[in-house]
Amino acid sequence: MKILVVYSSKTGNTKRVAEAIAEELRTTATDVRGQPDPAGYDLVIAGYWVDRGAPDAKMKQWLGSLTGGRVAVFATLGARADSDHAAKCLEAGKALAGERGAMVVGGFICQGKVDPALVEMMKGMFPAGHPHAMTPERLAGIAEADSHPDEADLSAARDYFRTLVSSLS
Ligand SMILES: Cc1cc2nc3c(=O)[nH]c(=O)nc-3n(C[C@H](O)[C@H](O)[C@H](O)COP(=O)(O)O)c2cc1C
Repeated sequence: MKILVVYSSKTGNTKRVAEAIAEELRTTATDVRGQPDPAGYDLVIAGYWVDRGAPDAKMKQWLGSLTGGRVAVFATLGARADSDHAAKCLEAGKALAGERGAMVVGGFICQGKVDPALVEMMKGMFPAGHPHAMTPERLAGIAEADSHPDEADLSAARDYFRTLVSSLS
């Protein structure tokens, strides 16, 4: 099966997951900035980092241009992978991938360290009581994300896509 693994990554988390998946599937991971052509692949596996609840802009644009074929998505985000927020962020990517006729066959999401500069900025941006203010719970979640993606995340991604590909072949 001919597989394209494509990713968008600002600080490296999604790239690490993409490389683990690509290695497992004996291919290479391609940066979306190279605008890879999805034509001729049996399966596209596209990864994004979550930006305000949705795929980041570069992957958003690329996914939105898919007009057919099979696609699976993966993503990294600061929140816990088992949160409702994570489920919605993955659904947002799947919806976008399938918007113009591609068949969405899977999705995987895991936590990824949040850029410390962003955390500092957010701390200063919203006063206590504001819906986006940094509560102790939020800070604990961000601290938890610090070690991700870890070996368990990479291994889960490898397992997920190996199983998916064998179910399609
Ligand atoms: C501008 C910005 C917006 C973000 N928005 C969210 C968000 O809505 N939800 C979330 O859980 N994480 C959010 N994050 C955290 C990133 O999705 C997370 O750290 C991701 O692993 C970064 O991936 P990368 O290293 O591949 O760039 C945001 C990060 C940035 C910089």
